[in-house]
Amino acid sequence: MMENILFVLAAYLIGAVPFGYLVGKWHGIDLREHGSKNIGATNVGRVLGKKWGLIVFFLDFLKGFIPVYLFRQMLGGSVEAMDYASACWFISCIFAVVLGHTFTCFLHFKGGKGVATSAGALFAISWMIGGGALLAWIVVMLLTHYVSLASMIAAVAMIVAALYDLDYMSDFSMRPSALIVLVLVLLAALVIWKHRSNIVRLMNGTESKSLTRKKDSS
Ligand code: G3P
Repeated sequence: MMENILFVLAAYLIGAVPFGYLVGKWHGIDLREHGSKNIGATNVGRVLGKKWGLIVFFLDFLKGFIPVYLFRQMLGGSVEAMDYASACWFISCIFAVVLGHTFTCFLHFKGGKGVATSAGALFAISWMIGGGALLAWIVVMLLTHYVSLASMIAAVAMIVAALYDLDYMSDFSMRPSALIVLVLVLLAALVIWKHRSNIVRLMNGTESKSLTRKKDSS
């Protein structure tokens, strides 16, 4: 029990490491005052260049992947075989790591939008769920060139991918893995809520398509 509590707390603290902010500071700027003012990889790419955007994406992805993957192994490895107690701890770990990024204690609880960290957590839950979300992201990105729109649609796609991967398309009976679907619904809601300024810009046609073009509104 105490081990699980400590692991969930550690997951929050790992998620809370604001890599984008730190990379910005290393370049002498506060990302919260530039571009979309977000500390995520997209804004790092927009403000500091694609190379740094990719590095921050990779780091934010890993901080979601590593704790969730390790916790899954600690709980036996198989999501489908977990009992309700293990599934509760597992979803707490998933939620903690993404909340760490989106509400980081190191930046007065104002963090990023949770996309890369959620992606890392998704791949640690299941390659099919992560892959489904990634596929949706790539398709929307290729069609529209809006990172924010691709991220929000991928957040919805991960729920569909989870329903498919965890067999809820053919068997809707209540199982512990339903908690995984529940946490993904909460994560999708969080990611979309964090993109509310992007939604306003998408609706009034001012959202930036290019990673290298700077924008000033938040
Ligand atoms: O991952 C965040 C992305 O979807 C939007 O970022 O900087 O354009 O608000 P940004």
